[in-house]
Amino acid sequence: MRTDEPHAIHLKDYRAPDFRVPEVALDFFLDPQATRVAARMRMVRTGAAGAPLVLNGEALKLVSVAIDGHPLKPDQYTLEPELLTIPDVPDKFILDVVTEIAPADNTLLSGLYTAKGLFCTQCEAEGFRRITYFFDRPDVLAVYTTRIEADKKLYPVLLSNGNLMEKGDLANGKHFAVWNDPFPKPSYLFALVAGDLGVLEDSIVTMSGRTVDLKIFVEHGNEPRATYAMDSLKRAMKWDEEAYGREYDLDIFMIVAVSAFNFGAMENKGLNIFNDRVLLASPETATDDDYARIEGVVAHEYFHNWSGDRITCRDWFQLSLKEGFTVFRDQGFSADMRSKAVKRIEDVRALRLRQFQEDAGPLAHPVQPQSYITIDNFYTSTIYEKGAEVIGMLKTLVGDEAYRKATDLYFSRHDGQAATVEDWVKCFEDATGRDLAQFRLWYRQAGTPTITASGHYDAAKKTYALTLAQALKPTPGQPEKLPMHIPVRLGMVGKSGRALPLTLEGDNAPGPEERVLELTAPQQTFVFTGVEEEPLVSMGRRFSAPAEFRIEQSAADRTHLMAHDPDSFNRWEAGQTAARTAILAMMKGAAPDPLYVAAIGPVLERALDDMAFAANMLSLPLESEIAMAMDVVDPDAIHAARVALIRAVAAAHRGAFDALYGKLSDTAAFSPDAASAGKRALRNAALRFLTAADDGAAADLAARHYRTATNMTDMVAGLAALARMTSPEADKAFAHFHDRFAKNALVLDKWFGLQATSPRADTVERVKALMKDSHYDLKNPNRVRALIGAFSGNQLRFHAADGSGYTLVGDVIRQLDGVNAMVAARMAGAFETWRRFDPARQALMRAELEATLKTPGLSSNMFEVVSKMLA
Ligand code: PHE
Ligand code: ZN
Repeated sequence: MRTDEPHAIHLKDYRAPDFRVPEVALDFFLDPQATRVAARMRMVRTGAAGAPLVLNGEALKLVSVAIDGHPLKPDQYTLEPELLTIPDVPDKFILDVVTEIAPADNTLLSGLYTAKGLFCTQCEAEGFRRITYFFDRPDVLAVYTTRIEADKKLYPVLLSNGNLMEKGDLANGKHFAVWNDPFPKPSYLFALVAGDLGVLEDSIVTMSGRTVDLKIFVEHGNEPRATYAMDSLKRAMKWDEEAYGREYDLDIFMIVAVSAFNFGAMENKGLNIFNDRVLLASPETATDDDYARIEGVVAHEYFHNWSGDRITCRDWFQLSLKEGFTVFRDQGFSADMRSKAVKRIEDVRALRLRQFQEDAGPLAHPVQPQSYITIDNFYTSTIYEKGAEVIGMLKTLVGDEAYRKATDLYFSRHDGQAATVEDWVKCFEDATGRDLAQFRLWYRQAGTPTITASGHYDAAKKTYALTLAQALKPTPGQPEKLPMHIPVRLGMVGKSGRALPLTLEGDNAPGPEERVLELTAPQQTFVFTGVEEEPLVSMGRRFSAPAEFRIEQSAADRTHLMAHDPDSFNRWEAGQTAARTAILAMMKGAAPDPLYVAAIGPVLERALDDMAFAANMLSLPLESEIAMAMDVVDPDAIHAARVALIRAVAAAHRGAFDALYGKLSDTAAFSPDAASAGKRALRNAALRFLTAADDGAAADLAARHYRTATNMTDMVAGLAALARMTSPEADKAFAHFHDRFAKNALVLDKWFGLQATSPRADTVERVKALMKDSHYDLKNPNRVRALIGAFSGNQLRFHAADGSGYTLVGDVIRQLDGVNAMVAARMAGAFETWRRFDPARQALMRAELEATLKTPGLSSNMFEVVSKMLA
């Protein structure tokens, strides 16, 4: 057990910095083992006279420090493991600090590190302090000039933020480049890249007529795999001009792909750095989901140029200010590029899967947390996805036009500043005149509210009284909650299927067919008049709040809405609820709900109208989504019931699935566009049902699907079906895939992942064997996530009753903690739901968590998540 318990940092303790740093000049002499960094900073006191200079630093070797050119003697400063303090400094001075670092030994991938011979940086959130001593906090904004010197043969490409000012050759086979970024920025947005890279180049003319060069740097030979990212970038730049009036500001915008990266990608000013997994794509190597992901992440990082870089965060408690907003922006972009309804379904699915789970467990925290031990642990689905939902609600409440007025105000009022969530909300109040006092609770209160509706129809008076009640359970540190301001979008559907007008008591004209009710009290009743027949309520359309909407409806009502709700999102939602209800009943011995099974008929008949949407209608709630609806999760029963429902649907509609599958066989040249992807998604959804029996015939069909595939999406669909089966066909296909893609790390990740997510009884053993594969590498986050991350999402096998899955993951996270604590701590999230299982499983999971807490030398990252999970 660690004795030096890491302490928490609190929002309430925020204090402005004591100094400004208008300028920073960095001089890098690159060497994998011993890189020298000479930093020159201009400091101006802004705080208390006489306050000492206290700078962050971590894993640094201090070579020298000087003030105004005078070197300091060791007794003029104090050096602690993570701080450099100089007690006596003038009000204005130049600080020179020289440090030495070893990028090749940096397995944490934070600060300056090497990956496959490439130097690259990752400074968010607190990586810059691993490069030099600095005020490594987001409210210290400086203009950076960066000079890089390195061997010219090994590192012909030298990049940093901003514009290239100078470059040239030096003696001894070295060369240099000087970059200057005129926009003041916090240290977390600093970036440097050096290596031997190929480049894909393009350019764009902005709304004011400026030409911007676009460059994507990748490993030599991968340039063609960057074309989709380039195309996405150009569309994103254009979209941001139109949707938000945001123009790009430098003359050059660069992206670099790297193979070892802790997260998805990083928005460093003018020099985004990407995990290559979310950048590289070709039909032979990337699935349609990969393409969509790339489009979304490229846009996300680009959009940060305004929501993050031009306006940054005052402190890390404001993280959602940039992340929630930027997610909301990238979701809007993808929705416009593709299908709005399908995008919304996918986003809500992801939200429920990860954020609802987080909000219901021991790691629940508000969109604006009040404290943290390690900020790295707060790049969560709550900050990102729930943060985006909160902005979506604001937009719903104020309307599209007022929303744009508010964001315009935000961008102009806070440009160049390190802002707060409060600043953001204030812009909405000032631009729209609305009082958002209660709405602010969405930032402060954790947990997913439940909205329960009950209605009463009075046939004589033709009125319908709808009562909405909200509730929010306690979350860690928040035993009591206040009622929230919740937009509830709804419609009413008649038994015939027609939409009924929503006229509220007191309206002087017939109302619209959809409206947004504002729920602000614990309980409110809304009375609708002129309701010609007893309505079915379609509540929470397009998921108007990150809440759980509950309404008592029969299976017949749900299947009615599944067919007739004018809102396609709620048609999907009705289908999900119907399926989930059916599965839960089957676990108690019921037969597959015949109404649900029958309701798939019309879905198949209309499937060709919107194929991507139909594919979503055909995908049943995931096992972990069903688990969310149970008091005590029974993973085996969930799996069995879900499979049984799939088989019942398959048996009832065999002919229709067959016909659909045949009709959709693809002969056209591959295109990643949404329509083509939708067609593949629908055909692969049909394949899921056609192979539902998991027998010999199913294996043959899946193997044929795999063999005849002309793109990665279809190959993976075939393999995913085979992965469920124990059959020579499965072995053959997996061996073939491995040999064909052994040299392609991103594709090999899929090979690892598909085996790790298999429901087969021997999955734990196979994952253990795969960990001995020569391609498995604990130092590569993508590979560890592909195998171990995927396995821990395999609810059936991770939660194997004998605890073998828990031990496997427990061992990995403890070992990984010493290599890359950030990734390890995220992976420990696999145990977040431990209290929701039966006592035997709880005990096994608890034992893993306790063993982890006792590990000598445990990181504070891991300490934080594990101790919170056990609390
Ligand atoms: N800021 C990055 C993004 O969301 C995520 C990130 C955080 C990347 C920390 C690396 C480290 O776009
Ligand atoms: Zn982001």
